[in-house]
Amino acid sequence: TKDLPVQKTDCLVVGSGVAGLTTAWYAAEKGQKVLLMVKDTLHDSNTNQAQGGIASVFGEDDTFALHVADTIKAGAGLCDEEIVRLVVEEGHDAVENLMKLGAIFDHDKQGNIALGREGCHSRSRVLHAKGDATGAEVVRCLLAAVESHPNIVIMEHHYLVDLLIQQGTCYGGLLWCEHNKELLTVRAGSIVLATGGAGQLFVHTTNPDGATGSGISIAYRAGAVLMDMEFVQFHPTALAFSGGDNFLISEAVRGAGGILRNARGERFMPKYHELAELAPRDIVARAIFQEMKQDGADHIYLDARAIDQLTTKFPMITATCETYGINIQSDLIPVAPAAHYMMGGIQVDRNGESSIQQLFVCGEAACTGLHGANRLASNSLLEGLVFGRRIAELIARRHVAIQESIDWKCTSLQKKAYRCDITAMQKIMSRHLGLIRDFSGLTVANEFFAGIHNNLDGTNAFSQQELEYRNMLLTAKLIAQTAAMRQESRGGHYRSDYSRPSAAWQQHILEKSR
Ligand code: SIN
Repeated sequence: TKDLPVQKTDCLVVGSGVAGLTTAWYAAEKGQKVLLMVKDTLHDSNTNQAQGGIASVFGEDDTFALHVADTIKAGAGLCDEEIVRLVVEEGHDAVENLMKLGAIFDHDKQGNIALGREGCHSRSRVLHAKGDATGAEVVRCLLAAVESHPNIVIMEHHYLVDLLIQQGTCYGGLLWCEHNKELLTVRAGSIVLATGGAGQLFVHTTNPDGATGSGISIAYRAGAVLMDMEFVQFHPTALAFSGGDNFLISEAVRGAGGILRNARGERFMPKYHELAELAPRDIVARAIFQEMKQDGADHIYLDARAIDQLTTKFPMITATCETYGINIQSDLIPVAPAAHYMMGGIQVDRNGESSIQQLFVCGEAACTGLHGANRLASNSLLEGLVFGRRIAELIARRHVAIQESIDWKCTSLQKKAYRCDITAMQKIMSRHLGLIRDFSGLTVANEFFAGIHNNLDGTNAFSQQELEYRNMLLTAKLIAQTAAMRQESRGGHYRSDYSRPSAAWQQHILEKSR
């Protein structure tokens, strides 16, 4: 493997959502030569599908203190207050910079930025674009800047196999090109993982196919510390239509007045929480689960019929529902909870650096302490914008030289393929690591993962799919392990056998490979 082709760059960025694109652009602006690589195409990201928007303090009646308080309330005792303040305060500037770069957000008739409302926000503070296509606008703007930047080289269809680590520092990555069926190495002064979340570990998810948690398992194998892996957020309202594709029905629909109704057509949220449909996401999702169980139904309904200018406000949702024969002005929308966001991930500091030097992580793959046990809606694009710039600034300031010779080992190449059934794994995850967990289910899940790791195939297959599956299994296993450890209920982690939060558990669970 020492004779593999080598590429060199100041900064290797992996991923093309808001986190990867922001970091790449700022680093390039600061004079770094950037190699931006993605496993599929530049357009494949969770950001590209984001609907609701970007939470930031733009309203006359809003303050940083209120946004901080709402974030901490949703985070159920595990937010890092300093990080929350940093993201909220720097976030305003970061959003303004995005507008200067060309992002166009919706405005009201008076010419002010139009602000939507989402769950657990005490003010309307969600900026949106083209109604419900905010992520696509963010990607359009950042991609235009990145693709035309002379300091950025783009490589699509390359998969990060492993990180090159020597004595606690990251010096680059080993890449697999599925098209040419060849390996290559990239040596870089700084490496940024912006590989996104892991919704594909579950049967139902709002995430695209690429959201497999690969960056998290790659960093874990390399020795990085992970934090809060047990906290997975389920979005209350994914479209639940036979033949449908888990399309998200934005929380902004409830923010605009949408009502949840059970299979019998009754409104139920007021009996679960004073904020009713706009209660924290974990509470709404569990209430829906409860109602579905009670009625033996596999979905409930979102009633958007009374919303003023419904189709103008939500054109993408209107059009997508129409393709399934649902007219959202006259029909109830069938919805059910689906895996949506990983609160946990690779632990990073206030500059986005992991426990491995020169390995930075940005966006959903990172655990900064902003989200705690339950992310406040629309805080994630904001986090990507803020941390992307912070990481780029530090990388440029340090400007670490590319290491000419590295004595690295790649564990992935020597491992044999697991005889694994990804569909079986997704079923286990959805059944035992979904909205409601307990000791016996977690034991079943952990036994499943222990069994797989003893089940090596002799073929030593090497393909993007095999690498992806291996990463999915490892990330899923790490979630199952930490969920079994946390003997309480908090935010996105609910255990029916420990149904309350416990003061003793108001702490993070950290994991590191041996
Ligand atoms: C939504 O539009 O409901 C999703 C927003 C988010 O997850 O932050």
